[in-house]
Amino acid sequence: MPGETEADLTGAEPTHNRRRPKQPIMEIDGRKLKPATLMMGHGYDPSLSEGSLKPPIFLTSTFAFESAAAGKRHFEGVTGIRPGGAEGLIYSRFNGPNQEIAEDRLAIWEEAEDALLFSSGMSAIATTLLALVQPGDVIVHSAPLYAATESLIGRTLSKFGVQWLDFPAAATGEEIGKVIEQAKALGRVALIYLESPANPTNVLVDLDAVVALRDQMFSGESHVPPIAIDNTFLGPLWHHPIAHGADLVIYSLTKYAGGHSDLVAGGVLGGNALINSIRLMRNTIGTILDPHSAWMLLRSLETLELRMSRAGENAAKVCAWLRDQPQVEKVGYLGFPENDRQAHVYRRHCTGAGSTFSLYLKGGEAEAFAFLDALKIAKLAVSLGGTETLASHPAAMTHLSVPAERKKALAISDNMVRISIGCEDADDLIADFSQALRAMG
Ligand SMILES: Cc1ncc(COP(=O)(O)O)c(C=O)c1O
Repeated sequence: MPGETEADLTGAEPTHNRRRPKQPIMEIDGRKLKPATLMMGHGYDPSLSEGSLKPPIFLTSTFAFESAAAGKRHFEGVTGIRPGGAEGLIYSRFNGPNQEIAEDRLAIWEEAEDALLFSSGMSAIATTLLALVQPGDVIVHSAPLYAATESLIGRTLSKFGVQWLDFPAAATGEEIGKVIEQAKALGRVALIYLESPANPTNVLVDLDAVVALRDQMFSGESHVPPIAIDNTFLGPLWHHPIAHGADLVIYSLTKYAGGHSDLVAGGVLGGNALINSIRLMRNTIGTILDPHSAWMLLRSLETLELRMSRAGENAAKVCAWLRDQPQVEKVGYLGFPENDRQAHVYRRHCTGAGSTFSLYLKGGEAEAFAFLDALKIAKLAVSLGGTETLASHPAAMTHLSVPAERKKALAISDNMVRISIGCEDADDLIADFSQALRAMG
């Protein structure tokens, strides 16, 4: 253990993080416990908090050290002098009990070595990029990306000399290989950044192909670019990218993980080495999630599988109905793959089709707006993954800032409505969509 020698140097006993049980129960009689079970108690020992069944919310900006030597040891961890992060609690910009418990539980869904919580999905993405990218580097990414991620790469990082090249989410291995080749000629490829399925087109990226290409094209090189993937639309239930070779999985936890449209949070999951460097950046710039939201997230994770399963079943029923309606041009739902290649990617990567999809209506913006304005159960709001059904118009809302040419290239059209199905009764939702389609005239 790298830490043990340092402990001797500082003279401090390695301190145990007091909210984490020393021996977490992960299996019983050789049976590996499922995430749904572990969400109820993993990472928290009630006996260390007056027997409180639920973790209290630790509203404090700073933590008292047991001794000066322990404080020094914690700072060695937090500044990266000693690998592995802080073993104890220091200051709420670095860590906190609620955040650590939620991080431990989040990591379980993807069997990740470690996880970090952030104040939003975008701060998770920004902190990751700041930690891994240097001036002159190239980022290769799938397209489209969530609009703020595109603008962070294309407009903000480019001011610091970072270049980018993209490939369409539906690209074949051969097409992706060509883009990586061009990127290598431009500079150091810092990272390969994917979003699958892409927001808002719902096109899946062939992660298996990207991993194989990365391994082959950078084999023997001193820097092998990590693959990061935004798994917000399908994770953590229906797609497990780490099992397919991704190095970092990024989340807007505001969506399915938070699941009640009442918090904003982000997460990054991955192996220790990468997570440690992202943690150092988080410590520096202070993008950690606050304790109250972390506590709410813990509450949400307890019902994650229930909520997502119900929303997924509802979406399957609603999409099957929508597909047959005369006002509908197309339903961009993962359960109805566009072509054989997308069907193949879907079968290899996904265990469910999710509950967020694109609905292409016959007509243009006027018809789409008439449909949206007529909805009675579904709320007209951006975001997704909550208990309630939401509908929005990407071209005029979340992706308004995307230049017209690029919108066209990415098929973000005026007749596209994005719908996130919630946990209501599926037949009630169908009744609502039915009257809204009729209201289009
Ligand atoms: C795919 C995807 N990634 C990232 C984000 C950003 O997350 P947040 O709003 O939590 O910052 C979003 C938000 O909609 C998203 O849809």
